[in-house]
Amino acid sequence: ADGTVEIPVVVNVIYRTAAENVSDARIAEQIDVLNADYGGTNSDASNIPSEFQSVKAGDVKVRFRLANTVRKSTTQTSWGTNDSMKKASTGGIDATNPSNYLNIWVVGNMGNILGYATFPESAGLWNDGVVIAAPFFGKTGASSPFNLGRTATHEVGHYLNLRHIWGDARCGNDLVADTPTQTTSNGGKPTYPLYNRCNGVSRSVMFMNYMDYVDDAAMFMFSAGQKTRMQSVVAASGSRAGL
Ligand code: ARG
Ligand code: ZN
Ligand code: CA
Repeated sequence: ADGTVEIPVVVNVIYRTAAENVSDARIAEQIDVLNADYGGTNSDASNIPSEFQSVKAGDVKVRFRLANTVRKSTTQTSWGTNDSMKKASTGGIDATNPSNYLNIWVVGNMGNILGYATFPESAGLWNDGVVIAAPFFGKTGASSPFNLGRTATHEVGHYLNLRHIWGDARCGNDLVADTPTQTTSNGGKPTYPLYNRCNGVSRSVMFMNYMDYVDDAAMFMFSAGQKTRMQSVVAASGSRAGL
């Protein structure tokens, strides 16, 4: 009634070691993080600087419900970004009806890559969804400084049509008006305020946005413009209306 869309989620766990076989409790924890971050009820939302209060998303009105967990053991030690984990014929697990479910694949190890996602242009295709390396999935037992479940928050942002906040270019465009243009990605735990000069204008940048590359503990907001973009994807007329 209030326009909130609840997305059913299938978590596909492909594991070699016991540590990679993330527990049901850890999966529940990850879903809870997504619901807090997309609901704007994350406890660290209190750290949003006052200058960004007027443009914060608050409740994105997207929620997540675990619909099923599928598990498969493997002897494969590492994975790339070629989607092989998404097909049984290449050692993975076939997606569950990707038009109607957000599929998340958890794999043991992707080298330096924490996760990756498909944009809405892939809606409903066999490879549609989010991949997360097990050390960065959930919280308990996850790998610092990416152990607060925010890799999933970031990847689901891509799945719902968000670009990186720096627009993947020097002073690039993320197609969101209320996120200040920034020179490049930020990492670690930057100190606020952080000024970037782009096209002759100096701005305090929103490095605490989920779509930057900072540590999990340093990211805690979406903007209102990002919320609008995500809402149009899950709306009745949107490319992910089937969710
Ligand atoms: N590098 C990944 C991507 O571009 C994920 C980054 C997630 N950041 C984090 N603090 N967990 O999609
Ligand atoms: Zn990203
Ligand atoms: Ca922007």
